[in-house]
Amino acid sequence: MQLDTETDNSFYVTTPIYYVNDLPHIGHTYTTIAADVLARYMREKGTNVFFLTGTDEHGQKIQKAAEANSRSPKELTDEVVTRFRDVWKRLCITNDDFIRTTEERHVSRVQKIFKAIYDKGDIYLGEYEGWYCTPCESFWTQGQLADSKCPDCARAPEMLKEESYFFRLSKYQDFLLQYFEEHPEFIRPRSRRNELLNRIKAGLEDISVSRAAVEWGITVPMNPKHTIYVWVDALFNYITALGDENSDRFKSFWPANIHIIGKEILWFHGVIWPALLKSLDIELPLQVFTHGWWTIEGKKMSKSLGNAIDPISITDKYGVDAFRYFMLREVPFGLDGNFSYTALQNRVNDDLGNDLGNLLYRTLSMTQKYFKGIIPKSDSVSNDNNKLSENAALIEKQIEQNICNSQFSLSLEAIWIYIKQANKYVEDSKPWVLAKDETRKEELALTIYNLNEALRIIAIFIYPFMPDTSKKIHEQLGILEIEENMRRDTTWGGLAAGIKIQKGEPLFPKIED
Ligand code: ME8
Ligand code: MG
Repeated sequence: MQLDTETDNSFYVTTPIYYVNDLPHIGHTYTTIAADVLARYMREKGTNVFFLTGTDEHGQKIQKAAEANSRSPKELTDEVVTRFRDVWKRLCITNDDFIRTTEERHVSRVQKIFKAIYDKGDIYLGEYEGWYCTPCESFWTQGQLADSKCPDCARAPEMLKEESYFFRLSKYQDFLLQYFEEHPEFIRPRSRRNELLNRIKAGLEDISVSRAAVEWGITVPMNPKHTIYVWVDALFNYITALGDENSDRFKSFWPANIHIIGKEILWFHGVIWPALLKSLDIELPLQVFTHGWWTIEGKKMSKSLGNAIDPISITDKYGVDAFRYFMLREVPFGLDGNFSYTALQNRVNDDLGNDLGNLLYRTLSMTQKYFKGIIPKSDSVSNDNNKLSENAALIEKQIEQNICNSQFSLSLEAIWIYIKQANKYVEDSKPWVLAKDETRKEELALTIYNLNEALRIIAIFIYPFMPDTSKKIHEQLGILEIEENMRRDTTWGGLAAGIKIQKGEPLFPKIED
């Protein structure tokens, strides 16, 4: 297990900082929702959490995008950054900070860091001659190109020949090999770790870390003719957001527990980032988790296809929690996935409407009908006539284990096994039959209590994934204090008898085509 909820009292999770040349789309939301689930879960466990996201605002790509829009890079970034903030707000993302690489706190620190690496002798001046892919902001050698195209995005790179500072990445090859050996969980999933390891074994060359031809960037402190390569600038966000090494934030939260990223940027996070940190004698992050890529209805998401999905409009139609649920339930974290409206609609109607929504609705209807809306008191709560109490504890363990492994879909699967069990319990115990028999009043009270209690616990189970639904369930059960007291109390019997339920609208009304 990577995250130890018992012993870790601080937890630092990051997303990539997104480029502001493009509007936020569902690919960005995927990573950020996953990070939010971890952050919420760890907070509930009583851990001191720092959750960072932000925007990557420098470099040739942003400079070009601004030119294409006839505005200054600053105007463009100021505008697009609000779109990212709006999406995170809409999706109930609980980031503790938001870093923009154009902020003074980042710029001045990156310059100090660059200088420190230079002073150490790990950065030197030379000349870069080779290819550059602007959409990926990546340098490529002739041999790395695939059919003269960028091996990552298949677009045409441009030839560069310019003075450039280099970082002695080659010097860190042995260190990285040893580090990977000693920390088999450093890069996850395992298959990607192995791929990366093979690339390191094949040999590391020094990398270019400045651009003479790009103005929109952080100036190299020793030489104002250069700006710092945008990837080096960007990676440092993970520490500049914490303040300098003597700050309380840095001391509490570094090293990061987990950087969550998409698979296309693993090279930067798994090789360049650890080498830069090592050069600075700063501890390495504990883990880089690489998730897969979403396609849209079977096609690559791309600007030219114009098929990117706007997170705001999709949540207008399907709801925020349904979208959060779908993204993490549909695809095992680490693998590629395909987005389709049919799949989303099915998840909403089946898992959310039929399973969860219906369980709440029927339970509250019966509580209303048989007990005038008051949660019944039962003397036999501790020896319930079902496995719901026993299983609640088991499911809680499975959720923990899977969340700590970033296996969100498995956590959700476990929760849904429990929800289905509760629905089956209704069918098996047939409260409507019990209600007709005066002598079985206690049995009926117990059954209805159990169902309400299972729902209280289910709402806690789903909280990190679907915070708003969690709250709504508790509200309908008549428990109101949950938001202030988010602690995960899933001990069976926690629901007080005698409270009045507040039955409301169905949680997930059926979505028609
Ligand atoms: O790479 N499927 O920013 P970026 C899944 N600024 N995830 C996707 C995705 C898709 N189709 N498309 C994007 C950058 N993502 C750099 C990062 S970090 C120091 C600098 C997600 O705007 C995924 O997390 O291109 C991916 O890694 C990230 O967005 C790339 O965002
Ligand atoms: Mg990208």
